[in-house]
Amino acid sequence: MRVIETVAECQEVLAQARATGRTVGLVPTMGALHAGHISLMSRARAECDVVAVSIFVNPLQFGDPDDIAHYPRTFDRDRRTCAQAGVDVVFAPSVREMYPDWPAQVATTVSVGGVSEGWEGTSRPGHFDGVATVVAKLFAIAGPCRAYFGEKDFQQLAVVRQMTADLSIPVVVVGCPIVRETDGLALSSRNVRLSPDERVAAVVLSRALAVGRNLLQQAPCYSSTVAEAMRLVVESEPLVHLDYAVAVGRHDLVARELIEDPREVRLLIAAELGPVRLIDNCAGLEVVADMAERHQRHQRHLERIG
Ligand code: PAF
Repeated sequence: MRVIETVAECQEVLAQARATGRTVGLVPTMGALHAGHISLMSRARAECDVVAVSIFVNPLQFGDPDDIAHYPRTFDRDRRTCAQAGVDVVFAPSVREMYPDWPAQVATTVSVGGVSEGWEGTSRPGHFDGVATVVAKLFAIAGPCRAYFGEKDFQQLAVVRQMTADLSIPVVVVGCPIVRETDGLALSSRNVRLSPDERVAAVVLSRALAVGRNLLQQAPCYSSTVAEAMRLVVESEPLVHLDYAVAVGRHDLVARELIEDPREVRLLIAAELGPVRLIDNCAGLEVVADMAERHQRHQRHLERIG
């Protein structure tokens, strides 16, 4: 496995791979790798010839200086995780390598309309501009490839898809299922910052989603009823302060009052536990095509491992 720190070297190595007919898979991360990231790497490994993982804690996407100061950094462990997952290239640039004038303001940024608005976009102003800018840079560095993102950051995935389509970037964006702890908590690099009590309380997010999803099975129903039911579940847990719990369209992330088809819905939830912000989401009802695709992929995987 090669660890690369410069943009030029990363561009060259991945361009060379393509020149020899190999396909490239990119897994953008901010490090502090966990089983959710490993699932992205495994998927990239199964579908691409060369797998590159970027590890870069992107200052542009943090509004709160305290948040970036406490963001877990575990590079040596991450490196080993990547090697074990069969990654070929780790791209770990410095902040100056990515933003040469840093800490001066970055002159060119990418701003995505529509799906960036509301939810995380409202609670974390500027966050999605930071994400879109760094992902656009990573796509420019990686070149044509398949890029793997977790559905845990569902709005981020929508922003990245929108940007990639609008700017005609030759990258296939692949959304991958959320990986959860056995009690239902979605894996996140931020979970390590929870106190033992907060860790126990955090499971209320996935419980609220399950309650919302159950209600959706009775559709047609009202999104405000679903949102209210999720809110009540979260409010039963005093350590958790709800930011939002909503039922939105799975493509445009807009809440509509009457829900007729739960397959078109995504439930989104965000809350603060002490200084830690957690988000989670789930499908209103899994789309049959998605289930079929997952089944086929699983079959292909079984065939590959013999
Ligand atoms: O999801 C993340 O880890 C980050 O937002 C990303 C996509 C790597 C951009 O910094």
